[in-house]
Amino acid sequence: MTLSGNTIALEEEARVSARRIFSLISNELQQVEVEFERQARSNVQVIAYLGEYLRVSGGKRVRPALTILSNYAVGGDGSRYNSIRMATVMEFLHTATLVHDDIIDKADTRRNRPTVNALYGNETAVLMGDWLYMSAFETSLAERSLPILDILTHVTRKMTEGELLQLTLLGHADLSEAQYLDVLTRKTAYLFSASCEIGAILGTANEAQQHALREYGLNLGIAFQLIDDLLDFTADEAAIGKAAGVDLLGGKVTLPLIYLMEAYPDASSMIETVLRSGSYEEVNQKDLLEAIERTGSLEKARECANGYAERAHAALDALPITDYSESLRALPTYVLERDR
Ligand code: IPE
Ligand code: IPE
Ligand code: MG
Ligand code: MG
Repeated sequence: MTLSGNTIALEEEARVSARRIFSLISNELQQVEVEFERQARSNVQVIAYLGEYLRVSGGKRVRPALTILSNYAVGGDGSRYNSIRMATVMEFLHTATLVHDDIIDKADTRRNRPTVNALYGNETAVLMGDWLYMSAFETSLAERSLPILDILTHVTRKMTEGELLQLTLLGHADLSEAQYLDVLTRKTAYLFSASCEIGAILGTANEAQQHALREYGLNLGIAFQLIDDLLDFTADEAAIGKAAGVDLLGGKVTLPLIYLMEAYPDASSMIETVLRSGSYEEVNQKDLLEAIERTGSLEKARECANGYAERAHAALDALPITDYSESLRALPTYVLERDR
């Protein structure tokens, strides 16, 4: 089979496995939609409007799926209201980070629709993000669980630290792989980890299972963001529903570029030119993509994501084999092969 034929086969496999993973809990995810709609109600018209706008814009719902699957995987009942409620809280937190992230990244499009900042300006978007954060916390209080609250406050702080650290590193071509991974773990992976761990707690997991799911989520989240950063180079904009090729323009040096500069120090000046000008006028975007492909830098970054996906998979050895734990085991492959 040719390389591209192989890629197409893998993508098809990912689509099939995604369908299987998400259809196993489709009733629960439907309940998450109902709960999201309920949690986003407000007497303040603009909040109610934007809450619904964000909900119907879709999204893959990976984080609530992780909470529900983790709950089931340790023997809990993921369809219980408290599981649905916390799964929705995880999606609320995620939505809040996206609303704020799109302000920071000056993004106009997400999920193939205008962002909140594009529609209503940064002021409204900041406040809407705050409202989502606080509503998520208010809802989670109903659980009366200090361990859960502890995880939620911790993860929210980590995400903010990730975005802040990223800001301080914007435009730095000499960013190290360790610095890059630190940012990405904070801004994305802790929320994945928390989504899994909270599902485990709600399912009354034992210590070993809770630890396993926390580790699983962390590694899966790292792989997820690594692929997000790869997709910025390779994806079809209509498929990912947001602008592609924008990370470097916005000052973000991601792993394929770090590897490119390691292999070819001369590439630094190309990258610095794009960073300085914020455009591809002097350095051709196609040339840069060609360079990361030709030098194997893209492949090497993919292998890095592979490694984290494998670690995620291995963390689940502590769990009994059920349809739910098997779905969790299939998720790393889906994350690696996804095209959106
Ligand atoms: C986007 O997350 C932000 C990252 C952490 C890369 P998703 O890719 O899960 O976004 P939606 O919810 O499916 O739109
Ligand atoms: C992830 O980083 C953002 C959050 C964790 C909120 P990105 O900035 O790469 O996410 P996208 O590409 O805008 O979805
Ligand atoms: Mg962004
Ligand atoms: Mg991105």
